[in-house]
Amino acid sequence: MITQIIVFLLILYFVKTIYTEFVSNGNPFSSKNSPIESIVEGKFTPKTLQKYNGKDHPKIFIAVKNRVFDVSQGSAFYGPGGPYENFAGRDASRGLALNSFDPSVLTPINEPIDDLKDLKDLEKESLEQWEEHFENRYKVVGTLHENGAVKDEN
Ligand code: HEM
Repeated sequence: MITQIIVFLLILYFVKTIYTEFVSNGNPFSSKNSPIESIVEGKFTPKTLQKYNGKDHPKIFIAVKNRVFDVSQGSAFYGPGGPYENFAGRDASRGLALNSFDPSVLTPINEPIDDLKDLKDLEKESLEQWEEHFENRYKVVGTLHENGAVKDEN
């Protein structure tokens, strides 16, 4: 009986030690310990943003009204195979306004940034609500600017 208790206590001790080690040294499966550094680059163009799509680069960024959000934590949504993967590395503004993730709502990479001027009031409202959602959930890592030659206000 005593032996059983000692064995039980020993097992408990080992489990506790292993657990403590795991927590303090970092869980290798946790994204917190990912060796991927935070992006410090503050300015993106549609072309430089494109690679942050979870495939060409492990981070996932999307632009909403010319602000770039790091949505890597939402990789289940935006990562490869996710329902909104079309948004990864792209300006998602029009898609969020129209509530569509169809590729047709994405501005081609070589074209000027969508000025969204034609949006209807309800669409603008939808976009603003999404913008708030992103502000509450994700970190801004930069701003979106025209490719190549800088336009007037940029
Ligand atoms: C069949 C229709 C749809 C269903 C059932 C659906 C379902 C969902 C669910 C369950 C969530 C998670 C909510 C949460 O955890 O807070 C979500 C989030 C989201 N959905 Fe949809 N959705 C649909 C259509 C769409 C469409 C058309 C868009 C296009 C703009 C869209 C964009 C998003 C976005 C951007 C998020 C937020 C993800 C995040 O927090 O990063 N969804 N959706």
